[in-house]
Amino acid sequence: MTVIVVFNQKGGVGKTTVSANLAAAIAKNGVEPLVIDLDPQAHLTSLYGVKPKNHQSIYRFFQGASTLSDLIITRDDGINFVPSHLELGKVDAQLTRHKDHVWRLKLALTAEMLSGYGLPIIIDCTPTLGVLSFSAMFAADIILAPVAAEYLALNGAVQLAQTLKGLEKFQARKPRRFLINRYTPGQITSETVAGQLIKHFPGEVLKTRIREQEALSAAVGSGANIFDFAPTSGAAADFTFLLDELIESNLISLSLDLPFE
Ligand SMILES: Nc1ncnc2c1ncn2[C@@H]1O[C@H](COP(=O)(O)OP(=O)(O)OP(=O)(O)O)[C@@H](O)[C@H]1O
Ligand SMILES: [Mg+2]
Repeated sequence: MTVIVVFNQKGGVGKTTVSANLAAAIAKNGVEPLVIDLDPQAHLTSLYGVKPKNHQSIYRFFQGASTLSDLIITRDDGINFVPSHLELGKVDAQLTRHKDHVWRLKLALTAEMLSGYGLPIIIDCTPTLGVLSFSAMFAADIILAPVAAEYLALNGAVQLAQTLKGLEKFQARKPRRFLINRYTPGQITSETVAGQLIKHFPGEVLKTRIREQEALSAAVGSGANIFDFAPTSGAAADFTFLLDELIESNLISLSLDLPFE
């Protein structure tokens, strides 16, 4: 498994927070993930301190004006990053949901040899349904859906499951895992949401829960990942557990899968 698509059509559930800190957890283990910001809001791009430049964003790829590889920025923290730009929002108006368009990302990841050797690729998605999110879903090996432990969370998760079901006409069902975020142990809402999710999606809810923690939003505010910002925090521990669980469940691997081995 290589391409981890962080998606939930519900906004503000923690997709960007999870993408950034999971990538940081992987990089901390000495493996360089590729992270793609596929959200026109470009939150991850600002978090990484990349100044918006439309000629260097993934919008160029969707315009057919650049390869993905040419858009990669190599960062000091071991993360390879493809930035977004507000203009990416035009893609959904300019490109129809034709198969040639929604498969393009998957094909490029393969053709440019960016996937295939087992190194993790993390795609932070937009909360809307359109060419961008469908491109990510077609490229996915696993769909990681953060769910905020709040009122109506289950409705959002059920809608997400329906969206993924709709895609099964076009591609085999992909493994998916729900990740409970903004969890407060012992709080009635948190425990109710966790219980409902486990009941509706048996075997698909990760054991790891990312707790509601001020350090996570403060880290975002200072443009840092949780391991640099608060290495001994509970939040850093939660993301370490998350990576461990994904590895133990064989959903991602941090070892190179070279063809001649
Ligand atoms: N576990 C947490 N504890 C505290 N704050 C959190 C936690 N997870 C996310 N947040 C905060 O919630 C807000 C929304 O998170 P984030 O931007 O990651 O969501 P998103 O799903 O990417 O949103 P969008 O749908 O707009 O892309 C941010 O301010 C973030 O700092
Ligand atoms: Mg986001």
